[in-house]
Amino acid sequence: DLSVSVLGHTFANPLMNAAGVCCSTTEELDSLLASASGTLITKSCTAQQRDGNPAPRFKPLPLGSINSMGLPNEGYEYYAEYVSHRAKGGAAAKPIFFSISGMTMQDSADMAAKLAAHPQGANVLLELNLSCPNVPGKPQIGYDMQDMRRYLEAVTAVYPRPFGVKLPPYFDMAHFDQAAEVLNAFPSVAFLTCINSVGNGLVIDDTCDTVAIKPKNGFGGIGGEYVLPTALANVNAFRTRCPEKVIIGCGGVLCGRDAYQHLLAGASLVQVGTQLWKEGPDAFRRIRDELQAHLARKGYGADRDAIGKLKVI
Ligand code: DHB
Repeated sequence: DLSVSVLGHTFANPLMNAAGVCCSTTEELDSLLASASGTLITKSCTAQQRDGNPAPRFKPLPLGSINSMGLPNEGYEYYAEYVSHRAKGGAAAKPIFFSISGMTMQDSADMAAKLAAHPQGANVLLELNLSCPNVPGKPQIGYDMQDMRRYLEAVTAVYPRPFGVKLPPYFDMAHFDQAAEVLNAFPSVAFLTCINSVGNGLVIDDTCDTVAIKPKNGFGGIGGEYVLPTALANVNAFRTRCPEKVIIGCGGVLCGRDAYQHLLAGASLVQVGTQLWKEGPDAFRRIRDELQAHLARKGYGADRDAIGKLKVI
């Protein structure tokens, strides 16, 4: 049994897309609804439509991907409209996660306030993005603990329901502690999605001695196989430090066994980014079946029995 009941919803299985991948348009979102995923999330939106950074801005790599998309999206109203038609209670059987990533704190608070008043708002799970690394001149909120606290104060003031945050990867034990302390001060932060891309890597194509993507002189967020250990560390660090919160794992999931490792580390749901981009929504059927087989091999009757069962030696 792969079903998971968390955050007031029951999901058929723990798999979903990572925000940003295959979720910018109605067509892409519908392809996720029709897939074997347990749920889905919309592309991080801003108040207004954005074209994003100049191309090439995403490159698949043998071990993952690099991107500096620059928040191209159709604008809040487009995704709000999608949810009107497709959230539970509408056509879809899957609850829908809704990612917002304002250009300013006020932008994020305004979108959160609108979502709170949305007719389908109770069937939507807000993921507040505190970790977009790709808008030039804009630092990541998640790396400034004071700023993160201000953002969470602003959003909790206008959003009465539980919600979650998308966090950047942290690499230092003191930073895990500091971030957890801020997050634990907000009981309505019900879930943490760990991790966004590993920010500002540089991929070089040495056939022509150039950078792989155009924005930011080639610097961009790294995802895929490269980031699995970092993702697992962040999932587990926050699972330990934030026992009241649900953890959503994201990073380096290519197959069912990777998803299993996220569950062991403490994730209740598991997102797929780079591999979904490479393989398309059919990836969910394969990864789901591989996860099911792996759990059976390990003697777990249900995936929820494996959550957080990582052993130390
Ligand atoms: C983009 C990238 C991210 O990692 C993110 O969290 C939001 C937006 C982007 O470049 O579009």
